Amino acid sequence: MKVLVTGANGQLGQDLVDAYAAGVARETVATPTADVVGLGHAELDVSDEPAVWAAVRDVEPDVVVHAAAWTDVDGCEGDPDRAHRVNALGSWWVARACEAAGAAMVMVSTDYVFDGTGGARDGGDPRPYDEFQPIDPLNAYGRSKAAGEQLVRQTLAEHYIVRTAWVNGARGSNFVRTMLRVGRERGEARVVDDQIGSPTFTRDLAAAIRELSVTGRYGTYHRTNAGTCSWYELAAATYELAGVEVDLAPQKSSELDRPAPRPAYSVLSDRHSVQSGLTPLPHWRDGLRNLLVELGELDA
Ligand SMILES: NC(=O)c1ccc[n+]([C@@H]2O[C@H](COP(=O)([O-])OP(=O)(O)OC[C@H]3O[C@@H](n4cnc5c(N)ncnc54)[C@H](OP(=O)(O)O)[C@@H]3O)[C@@H](O)[C@H]2O)c1
Repeated sequence: MKVLVTGANGQLGQDLVDAYAAGVARETVATPTADVVGLGHAELDVSDEPAVWAAVRDVEPDVVVHAAAWTDVDGCEGDPDRAHRVNALGSWWVARACEAAGAAMVMVSTDYVFDGTGGARDGGDPRPYDEFQPIDPLNAYGRSKAAGEQLVRQTLAEHYIVRTAWVNGARGSNFVRTMLRVGRERGEARVVDDQIGSPTFTRDLAAAIRELSVTGRYGTYHRTNAGTCSWYELAAATYELAGVEVDLAPQKSSELDRPAPRPAYSVLSDRHSVQSGLTPLPHWRDGLRNLLVELGELDA
């Protein structure tokens, strides 16, 4: 199997390249090692359609794993045209090039396509979103990813759309690494406790994407680590496990005054994935522990 990874220098992209090169031996699906080509932003700008076609033509992949995206949520809010160009049109160009080359595609998408009510508009408790619920993004980033999903679906039958959330890896910028840095620099941190989601770790997610991408069961899937928490709880667990003494206090999202609104509740249900035969991802606390080991913060 030959695989092309876009956004290969991003936090997920780097672990995807590793996962495909190493193969995945899991309970449900074992896959052999793949011949993998990773192209970072400098090698392939996905908003450049001719460049995307040329890359897919040159590499001749069986599967393109499209991890490239403009992930700066507040930046997207200030420049929705760029967000659309990269996240929506970029995904479309990849799908069109795959269609012409006879390749399948994995598009990595986001919990931010949902509105954060968890279907509880009537005042009931929010429930995890499944793949069949209507989307209604709150911000420009979510709208650009939602448009990308739609363009991929209408272009290429052989697609997997993988929605994930709250992504953290050893290489790249993310919440866990930022919390460790801020905690050590300042000895104190304030973190929102009114956004609930499922932290997801790139090692686990990359393995899950690889597993899905050899099934031939095209469609949309939710893949996050198990369990839910607030950002505040994730920060507390990070400091506790890493043994970093920090004066941590909760705050409300409204106090931050950020340009882009965030969904209050964006937990994704993995029922469809698991009933389809895919391996459940570990609990987020296990993913966090493994990440801290990889970062040298914890002994294995
Ligand atoms: N991070 C999260 O919490 C989260 C949550 C849900 C879903 N996702 C999705 O997961 C995927 C991977 O995200 P990540 O967390 O690994 O983010 P990331 O570390 O920001 O990686 C994204 C990569 O895409 C590259 N990129 C940006 N614009 C590009 C362009 N026009 N052409 C080619 N590459 C471009 C970036 O390069 P530069 O930095 O050099 O621009 C970066 O290396 C994305 O599809 C994202 O939407 C992420």
